[in-house]
Amino acid sequence: MAENIYPIYDQMMSRSDKEKLLHQHGLMVWFTGLSGSGKSTIAMGVERELHKRGILCRILDGDNIRAGINSNLGFSAEDRMENIRRIAEIGKLFVQTGIVTLACFVSPTNDLRMLARNIIGEEDFKDVFVSTPLEECERRDVKGLYARARMGEVKNFTGISAPFEIPENPALEIDTSRLALEESVNRVVMMILNSF
Ligand code: ADX
Repeated sequence: MAENIYPIYDQMMSRSDKEKLLHQHGLMVWFTGLSGSGKSTIAMGVERELHKRGILCRILDGDNIRAGINSNLGFSAEDRMENIRRIAEIGKLFVQTGIVTLACFVSPTNDLRMLARNIIGEEDFKDVFVSTPLEECERRDVKGLYARARMGEVKNFTGISAPFEIPENPALEIDTSRLALEESVNRVVMMILNSF
């Protein structure tokens, strides 16, 4: 930690003050899975469903965050670590404001997901493994990145030239090659509502 800094918390309005104001609880739902697996598509569906029910959400998404606050980071192991560290710290601010936060990041290793979990706190963290197989993500290739990774134009591409470790014990697993979007969304919504 930096020296000579004095964070103040005790005079600020508390998390529970904010949760009472919003009539909801803060929670981090952390989607992990390959690029193109459907993380953000599911999260957007979840956001709409919860919004309809009067629950305030915030989506944090890899491509958006990397276009902004993390625009100085690439895809080396160190940069991915810093990417996830910053996102988890930002996500924690949302969670502590009482907001249901939906984080959509490849977060390909157990260490990266553990880092996020430790920063946010076990009790506020639910991990969703979007387990759509590589072949299906590559078949979709929405951004054309798999084709470019196969040609060696994109280095360190998760699933092709960089590893993806299967999460050990996710709160929920969703394979979008087997489950319709509506059902995928519904499962996440149910998990969230049951956690309150
Ligand atoms: S993470 O590994 O650090 O968690 P993050 O979710 O932020 O990744 O960003 C992943 C997105 O960046 C992918 O969906 C894809 O669009 C894009 N991307 C560009 N290069 C790579 C790469 N080498 N590996 C993975 N994703 C990449």
